[in-house]
Amino acid sequence: MSDIKKLKNDFINKINEISSLENLNQTKSELFGKNGLITNEFKKLGSVSPENKKQFASDLNSIKDELQNLISNKLQKIEIEEINKKLKNEKVDVTLPERSFLQGKIHPVSQAIDEISSIFSEIGFSVEEGPDIENEHFNFSALNTPDNHPARDMHDTFYLDKDKKFLLRTHTSPVQIRTMLNGKPPFKIIAPGRTYRSDSDQTHSPMFHQVEGLHIDKSINMGHLKGCLHYFIKEFFEVKKIKMRFRPSHFPFTEPSAEVDIGYEIKDGKIIIGEGNKWLEILGCGMVHPNVLKNVKVNPDKFQGFAFGIGIDRLAMLKYGINDLRAFFESDYRWLNHYGFDPLDVPSSYRGLSR
Ligand code: PHE
Repeated sequence: MSDIKKLKNDFINKINEISSLENLNQTKSELFGKNGLITNEFKKLGSVSPENKKQFASDLNSIKDELQNLISNKLQKIEIEEINKKLKNEKVDVTLPERSFLQGKIHPVSQAIDEISSIFSEIGFSVEEGPDIENEHFNFSALNTPDNHPARDMHDTFYLDKDKKFLLRTHTSPVQIRTMLNGKPPFKIIAPGRTYRSDSDQTHSPMFHQVEGLHIDKSINMGHLKGCLHYFIKEFFEVKKIKMRFRPSHFPFTEPSAEVDIGYEIKDGKIIIGEGNKWLEILGCGMVHPNVLKNVKVNPDKFQGFAFGIGIDRLAMLKYGINDLRAFFESDYRWLNHYGFDPLDVPSSYRGLSR
């Protein structure tokens, strides 16, 4: 048997025994690589005598074809085997019972914030945030509430240092200052978030939530404020009519200032919003004081506008029928499960806010 026939037989046996892709590739380059056995046989062709050349070339070509076919068939076989192995190991048994899982709920306060943001976004307000730890300047002074101003006492502030420089913000109004310092008028923002006052009973918690509103432009007046709040309250409570009244009030950072009440009545032990002869206070508001605008380098002769601060917890209690504020912050799983909202149900006013 000639050398190349022996080589062929050896390799036929070898290839037949191979079972891994790695070995197959190795054998392939052993034969057909740059210095492969078959490659080298072809190089010898030049030195074969003319009478043997034709036979040698044809033998060599048929050996080459035979081995190449063998390799490519083997390759297919190995690939199919790998796929089958994968299919077997990764089989999904769709008849198995599902694993149990717990889905959380959206807290009513978060739900209310989402609903409020959705309503105001649709009428052109963007959403801003500020830090819970504020400095005295942003929380009071820049809001036209200087040292020794009696309004500072009303806030029962949690101070964080002896010098009373840092504090837990007592309202979301400092976000007005931060927003105006960071940009140029016009401004049209809301700012929901946590606020803190040293106060605790059935309707007051030391940590509570507010949403600030601020709209500053060249000719924003009190009519706009009234229209905006009326629209918001109607949308939020998802009612057609709402009774609402403005009562004169005082805030150092607005002039004139007002508190807003909405009408309600109790029918069969249930609270009905928007009707009746009882009044419930839900927010403070007013026209931004010129001193506040000066403090943030906005010219009060060119720009003016309104601000409001709404108590979110109170709104959530009213809307979702919750009567003790403290339950909001106790993290009782049963309570959350009862009053919480579906996390996949995103509020938007065109399809109904809450379900
Ligand atoms: N910051 C006031 C409060 O907490 C509410 C308010 C905001 C009033 C904006 C007027 C304008 O009571």
